[in-house]
Amino acid sequence: MKRIAAQVLVDLLQWGRLPALAAAQHVMRHRGLATALARGLLVQADVDRLAAAGLVTQTPTGPELTYAGRDVTYALTEWFQQHHRPWDFMRDSLPALRGRRLLDLGCGEGFLVVHALRRGAALSVGVDVVPEVVQFARAALSLEPPDRRHRGMVVRAAAEALPFDRGSFDLITARVAFNYFDLPRPVPEIARVLRPTGRVYMTVETPWHYFRQFLSKLPSKAAVVDLFAMVNAVPSFFGWPVWRFNLMGRSGFTAGLLPTALRRWFSRCGFRIVAVRHGARQIQVPGDQRKAAHGLFLIVLERIR
Ligand SMILES: C[S@@+](CC[C@H](N)C(=O)[O-])C[C@H]1O[C@@H](n2cnc3c(N)ncnc32)[C@H](O)[C@@H]1O
Repeated sequence: MKRIAAQVLVDLLQWGRLPALAAAQHVMRHRGLATALARGLLVQADVDRLAAAGLVTQTPTGPELTYAGRDVTYALTEWFQQHHRPWDFMRDSLPALRGRRLLDLGCGEGFLVVHALRRGAALSVGVDVVPEVVQFARAALSLEPPDRRHRGMVVRAAAEALPFDRGSFDLITARVAFNYFDLPRPVPEIARVLRPTGRVYMTVETPWHYFRQFLSKLPSKAAVVDLFAMVNAVPSFFGWPVWRFNLMGRSGFTAGLLPTALRRWFSRCGFRIVAVRHGARQIQVPGDQRKAAHGLFLIVLERIR
């Protein structure tokens, strides 16, 4: 009980900081860290902690957010925002994590990996294919106190070939990441590394999310990829593999998904869907209507054989 009260207090304090952080993110995104410091939106102690984690370098014009030689301002602002927003569809739907072993697929900047550790997970592992976000997530992990961070790990690996033993995890999550995989290849891998009766929690973007993205990007050519993702709902609906796109110098997989697609792919590997919820929002970014209008399904699957 005491622990819950303490966590609620910490969350309330974090929410109190939200407007200041949102303003800091805005300035950092558009004008850089030095301006955020000059305006008192971030304090030197924050910058020192980030520097200790290798996320800030000193340049002749002032501190800059870089990691491995790349600008990570966007990643950092996302990370701040994820840790301080009042409501998150995925985070708030997860079961108790204390003592459990969690694997987060497509972990990005490590938001859920860190969250699970803070909620007492016995092991919290993130995998992602992009080296920069893996480095970033490791740095984010290193900001946690030692007793916590030693239970966490971020690995550069693909969801289609997981470097873990059979039955290694109690819970597998994928927060707006499953849509980007070479589907359905990760499904047998998930079945392999999840213990019997383990559960999968994922939020997936809907076909209408991509349709809205498509309309909002027109007449830019970038809208074509969103149109493609919307059309990719068709093969996935029938349980077929999604189509790969190769458009305007970009190549990969993106598919708006319906629960039917998940049911078809996962039932072949011994899973059943135990819950589906539709959510209107994933991320609440002040002034960013595009993200506020996110269309998502939260889908919970259970392994039954
Ligand atoms: C939209 S981001 C979501 C990141 C994170 N889950 C979050 O909620 O902040 C999708 C992530 O999936 C990762 N990803 C894409 N394809 C992947 C694959 N085949 N295996 C593992 N990660 C992948 C991307 O690098 C990216 O970080």
